[in-house]
Amino acid sequence: MTKYYLTTAIDYANGAPHIGHAYEKIQTDVIARHFRQRYDDVYFLTGTDEHGIKMQKTAAAQGVTPKELCDSNVAKFKECWDGLGISYDQFIRTTDVEHEEIVQKIFKKLQDNGDIYKHSYTGLYCSGCESFLNPRDLTEDGLCPDHLKKPEEVKEENYFFKLSKYKDRIIEHIKKHPEFIQPEFRANEVLNQLEHIEDISVSRSKESVSWGIPVLGDDSQNIYVWIDALSNYITALGYDPEKPSEKFNKYWPADVQVIGKDILKFHAIYWPAFLMALDIPLPKTILAHGWITIDQTKMSKTIGNVIAPKDVMETFELEYPDAFRYFMMVTAPTGRDGNYSDVDFKERVNADLANNIGNLLNRTLNMQVKYFDGEIKPEFITESDNEIAKAAISTVENVKAHFDKFEVAEAAQEIVNFSNIVNKYVNDTAPWGLAKEEKMLECAKVLYNVMESMRFIATMLAPYCPNIANDVYKQLNISINPCEVKLDSLKWAEIPAGKITEKEKIKPVFLRVDSEIAGASKKA
Ligand code: ME8
Ligand code: MG
Repeated sequence: MTKYYLTTAIDYANGAPHIGHAYEKIQTDVIARHFRQRYDDVYFLTGTDEHGIKMQKTAAAQGVTPKELCDSNVAKFKECWDGLGISYDQFIRTTDVEHEEIVQKIFKKLQDNGDIYKHSYTGLYCSGCESFLNPRDLTEDGLCPDHLKKPEEVKEENYFFKLSKYKDRIIEHIKKHPEFIQPEFRANEVLNQLEHIEDISVSRSKESVSWGIPVLGDDSQNIYVWIDALSNYITALGYDPEKPSEKFNKYWPADVQVIGKDILKFHAIYWPAFLMALDIPLPKTILAHGWITIDQTKMSKTIGNVIAPKDVMETFELEYPDAFRYFMMVTAPTGRDGNYSDVDFKERVNADLANNIGNLLNRTLNMQVKYFDGEIKPEFITESDNEIAKAAISTVENVKAHFDKFEVAEAAQEIVNFSNIVNKYVNDTAPWGLAKEEKMLECAKVLYNVMESMRFIATMLAPYCPNIANDVYKQLNISINPCEVKLDSLKWAEIPAGKITEKEKIKPVFLRVDSEIAGASKKA
């Protein structure tokens, strides 16, 4: 029995989701769907982060309670993820009572162990980060480098967590486990931050932050966001410091936790320290993705260039989210920043999905009907030792190897490279020419090779484009869903002899998106 547990960051529920949030959920979903094609039991967690000063302020500005604000935004997140086909198994909200109670117990355990102490403090707080900033990290004008806002000076008596106590163990862990921080080039950044690490505030007074989980036995304090937020990854599994649940024992440690590069410090330093303090194993990998810009500009409400996934869906009148999912995954090498523009979107999905893959299938099936009445005879079936079959089989191995390193964009490129090989093969062998010369058996074998290749392509592409891949399967007269196919059981020459299709059944699986409307997603 092979299990695989993966998580996303939980989004602040103080607004609606945009394509940056979507990028992360799609990436995690593609990884989840790929590993469902390899492992027995994949568990995928996502959710929302609902406490803290930011939520409190936004709610006050809108004249609603923080809970009302969260409820209405959570509905938007869920609707958005459903529309994008995010196949999560569980959606956790940090306002779930079960979560809140366990967070209180976790805090209590850390106190009992002597890892949490009370301390008076003056610090610079950024509500955008929900974090205290080190004066050294500010811009020249004294602003938060991520949010370009002046942090507030906060003077309070709070509970502190002894982060410095775990510094050496974390450094050692990172050095010993190169797979812990992915992509690997980010590990140095974390090691540098660790050099200057200090104990961190883990509570706020109720006066300054009223919207939070109360500290047990201290009426004056609320647990401050990061212990609350990070714990979601284990409270969701029913972790309890007194008696871990069966589900926790089954799935923890996580195989991969996907987050944005902006919150790597919290996941690669704070989170391991909390886990060490609780005597729980660390996740195997923290995968930090890059940031998505729009037309090379940071998305911001002030600039007015924020795009939601449904804007793209509506602009291009997409029936399925597949093309958007695909584009987001190939816009940048995994871990690097990526960019969205309507023009790039249109070019990329037309080239890869409509021309390269869609057309190939369409041409092939049409020839199969024209020359063979849609029929595959037993002698048309090819052996796995031909060049195209070998390329198909090695592409599967390459795709798996990329996913083992979470290289989602790079794995997609392997699939496209293979489809290029198949396109070239069709052009070089020219089955229409073979038919003209009446070399019918040769022609039939070429077409069979292409149809088999399409089955391999659809299977590997299914994590990115589950609906299109399924349509490819249907066109090939295969009744199972490619998402349910295990990659290790994918063998050459499985399309059986018999009728594969007829003229009326051949339809393009992906229509070119319209160039006329490109540009319309920009709402600014
Ligand atoms: O940080 N491009 O929540 P959040 C790519 N609640 N990713 C982006 C992005 C963009 N333009 N904008 C945001 C939080 N993200 C905390 C997390 S986890 C225990 C708590 C990503 O709503 C961002 O990097 O600000 C993060 O991983 C996720 O969206 C949620 O961001
Ligand atoms: Mg953020």
